[in-house]
Amino acid sequence: MSSAKMKKAAANAAMDWVTDGSIIGVGTGSTADFFIEALAANPRKIKGAVASSDSTADKLSSAGIELYDLNSTGTLSLYVDGADEANQQLQLIKGGGGALTREKIVAAASTAFVCIADSSKQVTTLGQFPLPIEVLPMARSFVAREIVKIGGDPELRDRFTTDNGNVILDIHNMEITNALELEHRINQIAGIVTCGLFAHRPADILLVGQADGSVEKITRQ
Ligand code: A5P
Repeated sequence: MSSAKMKKAAANAAMDWVTDGSIIGVGTGSTADFFIEALAANPRKIKGAVASSDSTADKLSSAGIELYDLNSTGTLSLYVDGADEANQQLQLIKGGGGALTREKIVAAASTAFVCIADSSKQVTTLGQFPLPIEVLPMARSFVAREIVKIGGDPELRDRFTTDNGNVILDIHNMEITNALELEHRINQIAGIVTCGLFAHRPADILLVGQADGSVEKITRQ
């Protein structure tokens, strides 16, 4: 089974967490896009959604789903999003699509975070996927030097600007054994908006589409 089919199976499975009349948070990326398709097939089920990126907002609107500003919704009952890597504690690397900051905000503002993924995203140790960090443009070189001091190898994402007008540094060669500590440490560097480690706010449920078409459900302990 292709990775797209595995992503779609996981996205469809996430519909079990969607309750009628709710306003939910929706993530960004190809797996989240399958979830938007599933929502569109049930247009009356939710009241609306908070988007984690401009691109997701466009797709939700095209699907006829009403958009809400997070400032007007209070705590959301559910956030559904993909990931670039997930470990056994359901700590994640996110931001391959560059939407990590808004994704982190919406995840933090949600009671339940259901992460949807194909089986290639499951890892024992985070860090094989380069860790994205969103950086204010004027701080780019300073932040890169600070990242080198902690053992990372930063690379400016080419010709990419985030929805917030910032740049992304992708950090290579970080073997992340203590994601909680590293997330905290990186986020203390001046000029960083946030890093793509989701350890302080990990997923609560991980739905993993498998090659045989089934979906494995992992609940955070
Ligand atoms: C977007 O910024 C990311 O956090 C995505 O959630 C992540 O890159 C997963 O993307 P795919 O669903 O396209 O694999």
